[in-house]
Amino acid sequence: MAKLWYLGHSTFYLEGEGLKALIDPFLTGNPWGIAKPEDFTDLNYIFVTHGHGDHLGDAVEIAKRTGATIVSIFEVAQYCQFKGANVHAMHIGGTYNFPFGRVKLVPAAHGSSVIEGDRVVTLGSPCGIVVEVEGKNVYHAGDTGLIADMELLGKYENIYVALLPIGGNFTMDIRDAAIAAELIKPALAIPMHFKTWPIIDAEPEDFKALAEARGVNVQILNPGDELEF
Ligand code: NI
Ligand code: MN
Repeated sequence: MAKLWYLGHSTFYLEGEGLKALIDPFLTGNPWGIAKPEDFTDLNYIFVTHGHGDHLGDAVEIAKRTGATIVSIFEVAQYCQFKGANVHAMHIGGTYNFPFGRVKLVPAAHGSSVIEGDRVVTLGSPCGIVVEVEGKNVYHAGDTGLIADMELLGKYENIYVALLPIGGNFTMDIRDAAIAAELIKPALAIPMHFKTWPIIDAEPEDFKALAEARGVNVQILNPGDELEF
C-alpha cells in the first residue's frame, strides 16, 4: 500500500516501496500547522512544482538535512543546487525512471519565481508532476489554471490519484477544477490549495458535487488526514 498524508495547502507526504517523499514542502509559515520541517528526518525525494514560497517552501533546508534529492524543473533544481541541495533536474514532458518508479513533468499554466531581497527572480516554467508509486500514478497539479493538456493525462497517463487546486484567484476554481477532473479521469480526485488564506476560500464539498456530476470520484482530505491506496 502507498500512503498519502495531507499536510495542508498543496503539501503532501507520499510513501511507498522505495519512496519517502514530500511534495511542495511548505511547512514553515503554513497556516494549517500540521507538521514542521524537523518532523521529517528520513526522506529520499522532494518534488517541487514551482518556485513560489508556498510550494518550494522548506525544500532546500529539508534536502540538505536529510540528504533527499529535490526533483524539479531545471531552473528550480539549479536554484536549489546553488543553495547546497542534491537535485535531479527535469523539464516539461520529460520522463525518468527512478528506482521507485516513473516520474514525468507535465505542463501547468502559472508562474514560477522566488523573492531574493527586493527582486523577483523568475525560475522558468511551473509544472505538474506525475509520480508512480507502487505502480499507481499520482498527479500533483501544482498551481495551474485549467489547460487542454489535461486531456492528454486522461487519455495516456492512467492517473490514479489527482491532486487538484480548487481555490481560485491564483489557480483553477471549483468549476474549472471539476472540468479538469473530467479531462484527467483519475480513479480519485483530491482537492487542495483552498482555505489557507481568505483569498482562496473555496468549499471542497462544492467541488466534490461538481466533479461527481461529471463522473469523477472525489475524496476530501482535511489537513492532517492520511489516505492509503
Ligand atoms: Ni504558485
Ligand atoms: Mn500556490
